Amino acid sequence: MVYGYPKGHIFYRKLGRVYPLITHGEGIYLYDERGKRYIDGSGGALVVNIGHGQKEILQKITDQMGNVGYVHGTQFTTQSIEEYAEALGEILPQGLEKIYFLSGGSEAVEAAIKLSRQYFLESGQSQRWRVVARWHSYHGNTLGALSLTGRVGARKPYLPLLIDFPHFPPPYCYRCPFGYAYPECDLECAKVLEQVIQMEGPETISAVILEPIVGATIGAVVPPEGYLSSIKKICERYGILWIDDEVMTGMGRTGKWFAAEHWGLSPDIMVLGKGMSGGYFPLSAMITKTKVVDLLKERTGGFVHGHTFSHHPVACAVGLAALQFMRENNLVEQCAKRGEYLLKKLETLKAFPFVGDVRGKGLMTAIEFVKDQKTKEPFSRAAKITEKILDLAFENGLVLYSGTGFVDGINGDMVMVGPPFIIEEAQIEEIMEILKKTFTQIEKDHL
Ligand SMILES: Cc1ncc(COP(=O)(O)O)c(C=O)c1O
Repeated sequence: MVYGYPKGHIFYRKLGRVYPLITHGEGIYLYDERGKRYIDGSGGALVVNIGHGQKEILQKITDQMGNVGYVHGTQFTTQSIEEYAEALGEILPQGLEKIYFLSGGSEAVEAAIKLSRQYFLESGQSQRWRVVARWHSYHGNTLGALSLTGRVGARKPYLPLLIDFPHFPPPYCYRCPFGYAYPECDLECAKVLEQVIQMEGPETISAVILEPIVGATIGAVVPPEGYLSSIKKICERYGILWIDDEVMTGMGRTGKWFAAEHWGLSPDIMVLGKGMSGGYFPLSAMITKTKVVDLLKERTGGFVHGHTFSHHPVACAVGLAALQFMRENNLVEQCAKRGEYLLKKLETLKAFPFVGDVRGKGLMTAIEFVKDQKTKEPFSRAAKITEKILDLAFENGLVLYSGTGFVDGINGDMVMVGPPFIIEEAQIEEIMEILKKTFTQIEKDHL
């Protein structure tokens, strides 16, 4: 059988693609109906943190479904919701205590936009509603989240529908937006936030949202030392909330439970998604401080927000099972260790003349492609270098995740490597073999 548009009734995500049908997954591998094996080198979209086919998770899902599959979040709670919140509460950065469960990252970002708005409304600062975000960021595809997202190509078709949220440049040292080098730059990329706040009017800003390590748009860009703490200080100076978008980086992906912990920081609001359930069920969360929720309780009596599937009993059972699995198998420590190993191996790919940069933290890594290693000139978008690499690697049995357009809104090519945390060193070697084979083919046939 051939699957893909226009056959059948599915409105597929990619309309020009032929889809292999996956029959099962095991560990880091996926198998299609023809028996072809793929290494899930990106865990989907950096979601599959604990690997495929973990029987413990299956057991917990079926147990919960057998007990009760659904209750509405305004009417009941369940043991799974209560226990998961307790367990998650134990690992959260200091000061974050109240967890609002949702189904996806974009939903969690929408909730964060609204919570920061309602918080200031209740505090008597009704003019504060705008959230400042960064260019080349990704915060989701729903209209509020897309208004924050700084990915030019994703915004363009919907510009008339987007909210007027200001943006500032990212800490992208490989291509410093100001043409400086660290540390002589004196963190201009953080200081510029203050200018943006001043020009937009601090009294109108409710929050600043950042991915602590830039994810799917530029690919695993780790900020320089001092950057995040400078951002936090600027937020504090103007009484603005800091929303830490850890949808991709959270739940261990960067080698600590949460990326902000690499710099010893704790935000006012944090959003999580992706790896919370390891992909076994749609699950996300918006998390904040008790004092924020207390204010809502005192004034309006609650958060003016909600969804049919918020606080889902089965999602929470899966989240709890995934968290327990990670703790029992020390997967955050393993992610840190394997991440170091992977990054060292990926560095060797700079021997290929079109590999410009290799970067990341933990098992969140990326390779940026350039036409010229010395000048860092990007490939023209028309060359579709990312797509070619992605397709060839896929054919060779390796699934990667990609991003384009981050250099100037059009050009810019990268792939992300972000396998499940259970990966062994020998399996990282398997990834390297396929990457080398793929890059050799690209060099020979496509450059
Ligand atoms: C940092 C970040 N925030 C938000 C989102 C949106 O999450 P979702 O795709 O689950 O809506 C993503 C998804 O890639 C993300 O990486």
